[in-house]
Amino acid sequence: MRGGPVIAVDGPAAAGKGTLARRLAEALGLPYLDTGLLYRAVGRLALDAGQDPAQPAEKFAQALTPADMQRKDLRTPDVALAASKVAAQPAVRAALVDTQRRFAAEQGAVLDGRDIGTAIFPDADVKLFITASPATRALRRFLQNGGDATAADAQTLLRDMEEALSARDRADASRDSAPMCVADDAHVIETDALDAQAVLAEALRFARERLVASRA
Ligand code: CDP
Repeated sequence: MRGGPVIAVDGPAAAGKGTLARRLAEALGLPYLDTGLLYRAVGRLALDAGQDPAQPAEKFAQALTPADMQRKDLRTPDVALAASKVAAQPAVRAALVDTQRRFAAEQGAVLDGRDIGTAIFPDADVKLFITASPATRALRRFLQNGGDATAADAQTLLRDMEEALSARDRADASRDSAPMCVADDAHVIETDALDAQAVLAEALRFARERLVASRA
């Protein structure tokens, strides 16, 4: 028996899951876990060890500490790619399952990732799948990284960003172990035409409806 609701926020890269999940957690008074940081930290440790992240990396997942997840160098494109490579390994995923489940055990939680509603918490009280077109997601990540959309090379950089995000999405969706996919009972929010406030409003509307229904 969990001490509070579990809210799963899944979706492709740079769709705005983190912003939404953080705000949802604040609005509902729940702890928040960015599960992507687990895989990023494992990918970072593999790179630091001079290892190809596609090689077996479970020893890094098994030894992961909170300090590894708080590092400031986890948001770079090379770490995102390394994360996706270690995340395709069943042994790495298996080593991180308990951490994610334990996080929500006491008070419930909002967790964002790729497989929260399908593999980590198939019985989550609320499942959201947040998405947007590759072009929108590339622009958001570009701006988030401090990019200048009016710069002369902006179009080239945006195209490169879109390609990198799409390649990572393909890898995440096609792996055998807990691939990214929409859970049957997830509410899909397509965010191309919505700002962060509107996404939060729609997510809160759906979450409250589900939480009231589950108490009835
Ligand atoms: O922030 P962004 O959406 O770009 O990525 P992230 O959520 O930090 O995740 C980085 C990578 O970790 C993803 O591309 C996935 O390969 C992996 N990941 C995963 O497999 N399962 C999760 N629950 C979260 C992330």
